[in-house]
This record gives sequence, structure tokens and C-alpha cells, in this order.
Amino acid sequence: MAALGRTLDRAIRRVVDLAVAFDVTNPLQRALDARRREVVESLLAGEQGNVADVAARLGRAEPDAHDRLSALAERSLAVLRHDLRDAVSGPLRLYAAIDGRLPTRESELLDDPALPAGMRRQILEDLDHMNRTLGSYPRFLDLLAPWLATDRPTRILDLAAGHGGFDLELAREARARGIALEITATDLKREYLDIGRVVAEREGLDVRFEVQDALDLSNLRAPGAPRYDVITCTQSLHHFPVGLVSVMIHEAAATSAVLFIDGYRSLTTLLAVPSIALRFGHYGMFHDAFVSSRRFFVPEELRLLACVTPAAERTRAFRIPPGFTVLRIDPPTGAPAPADRAAGSPRRLPVL
Ligand SMILES: C[S@@+](CC[C@H](N)C(=O)[O-])C[C@H]1O[C@@H](n2cnc3c(N)ncnc32)[C@H](O)[C@@H]1O
Repeated sequence: MAALGRTLDRAIRRVVDLAVAFDVTNPLQRALDARRREVVESLLAGEQGNVADVAARLGRAEPDAHDRLSALAERSLAVLRHDLRDAVSGPLRLYAAIDGRLPTRESELLDDPALPAGMRRQILEDLDHMNRTLGSYPRFLDLLAPWLATDRPTRILDLAAGHGGFDLELAREARARGIALEITATDLKREYLDIGRVVAEREGLDVRFEVQDALDLSNLRAPGAPRYDVITCTQSLHHFPVGLVSVMIHEAAATSAVLFIDGYRSLTTLLAVPSIALRFGHYGMFHDAFVSSRRFFVPEELRLLACVTPAAERTRAFRIPPGFTVLRIDPPTGAPAPADRAAGSPRRLPVL
């Protein structure tokens, strides 16, 4: 059975490596994303007044500022998804109609407090296994390259980290490449963090595990609070209500550079991810892979959710193969010295 699993993993990896090498995307999806970009730009132009109003309220730390940001983000994304259907014609209209039916409010079993602890743990471990099989972690590491400090350890705070699969792999890779990182993996659930802490201790990896609400980072702005060069969040954004994704982006971008990575929503992802998850042979993983692939974002949507926050000017959103959406936000002016961006630094990771 284990041998069959390994054979399947090797076959999946080969297919994914080919998809990455040739950056296979379906042309209708590409055309739809291009149209979506235009709709986002015109939407943002029309919302300038509201965006400025929310930014002013956030700047004054008004008690309802987060609620207003969340409401603006939710409304903007709903308008984008609605307007997109009217902005296309021909076969693209049918494709847009299908794409428009994908987003769902259904939640994942992993987020169900009644799910038995053993199943929760199993899903997290299978997700980690899937990331290894797909070769996801090295791709995420490469995206950190622009912010790696050369004269001191780079401080990374990972939000909604689960049991820290990404952080542990980051620490292993950093050790192998001689890169100095200080990694703090955080999550709401101590239960998950404890799983990662045991692995870190066993392997002697320099990863700290702390409970942290990803939606309230006010503790990071307190006097004497630790400063981070980069705040990351991998494969968790789709677990949050849309409005709160904007709040999380705002909170993180207020103090640090931001690297948020989630799955890329497309019909291809919808077919591929649950099929790969079937490899684990249990309903929990298949269900959550199916629901997540409907809840994932496309880059234009994450860009919109970031551009209603005051971090708009520092934001870039893009897709990386085989199927990830990346939101990258430069650090705010006055943040602790980010990485030395001079070319040729020996500590830089290669960018794909
Ligand atoms: C898909 S899992 C984690 C995936 C992990 N980042 C990875 O790449 O393997 C989503 C995580 O979000 C966490 N979470 C949900 N709401 C949260 C919140 N408000 N603050 C911090 N973590 C939260 C859950 O406990 C869960 O561990």
C-alpha cells in the first residue's frame, strides 16, 4: 500500500513539474483574468472616495474602522464577481458564468470544531504531504528572496500556520543553504502548534510556535513588541470571510512586508486538487480539497482586497504555477531595515 502511495506521488510530481515547466494554463482562464484586471481597475477608480475614507478612519484608529474596511472589501469583491459576468461575451461568457458559480460559503471540515481531533490532525498532515508531493514549499521559499537580510537573521512571522509545515520546511531549507532565519509560526489553535513544536525539537529546527490571532495583530504595534521583516500566510486565506482577509492584509502590511499565498481558483484547480487529494483515501481530505478549490482567490481578487487598504501602492498580486495566487506587499516606509536588495548577494534564494 505504502509502495503504491509512493508510486502515485512520483507520478503526480512528474505531471506537476511538467505543468510548471510549460506553465500550462487554460486560455479561457487567461482571457477571463485579463478582463477581470480591467474590471478591478475601473472598480477601484470608482471607490477612491470610500477607500480614502476608510484609510482615514484606520489612521485615527476609530473603533469601527475594521468593520468598515471589511464591509468595503466584501462589497467590492461582490461587485467585481457580478460585473465580470456582464463584461465578457461569446464562449468567455459561459466560462465566466461557471467561474462565478465556484465561490462558496461552505466551510471546510478542518474548521468544524466538532470534527474529531484525530481527523483534524490527519487532514493537516495530508495537506503537508500534498505540498511536498507538489513541490510547493521550495516555490514559496523562492518568493521570500527579495526580503532576505544579508547582515542579520531575517525575521519571519507566519500566520494561521496550522502545525507549521511550511515553517519547518523553511527552517530545514535555510539550514541547508546557510541562511539565517528567525521563524515564528502562529495559529489560533495551540493543539496544532504543539504538533509542530515536537517536530522542531526532534530535528533541532529554530522555529518558535506561538498562539496568535491572525485578525488582530495590534500586539505587534505595542512598544517593545518584536519586529518582523516579513509576515507570511500560506494556504489559509480562503478559510477567512472575504472582508476579514482585507483586515488581515491591512494589519500585516502596517508593520512589515507581506507574502500571502493561497491556491489559484480555476476550473483546472477544481479538477486537479481534489483528484490529487483522493490519493489519501479519506473523505475529509477530498471534501476539504474540493471546498478549498472553490474558495481560493485569483490574483485580481486579492489585489482588490489589498487595494481597499492603505497598502495599495505597495501591492502586487500574481499567479505562480502550478496553481498558486501570490500577494506580495513591500514593507511600509520606516519599517525595520528590509533585506539588502543589492544584486548578487550570496544569501539570496534563486527566484523561479
Ligand atoms: C489550512 S490550515 C493551515 C495551513 C498552513 N498555513 C499550511 O500552509 O500548511 C488553516 C489554519 O488557519 C487557522 N486559523 C483559522 N482562523 C484563524 C485566526 N483567526 N487566527 C489564526 N489562525 C487561524 C486554523 O486553526 C488552521 O490551522
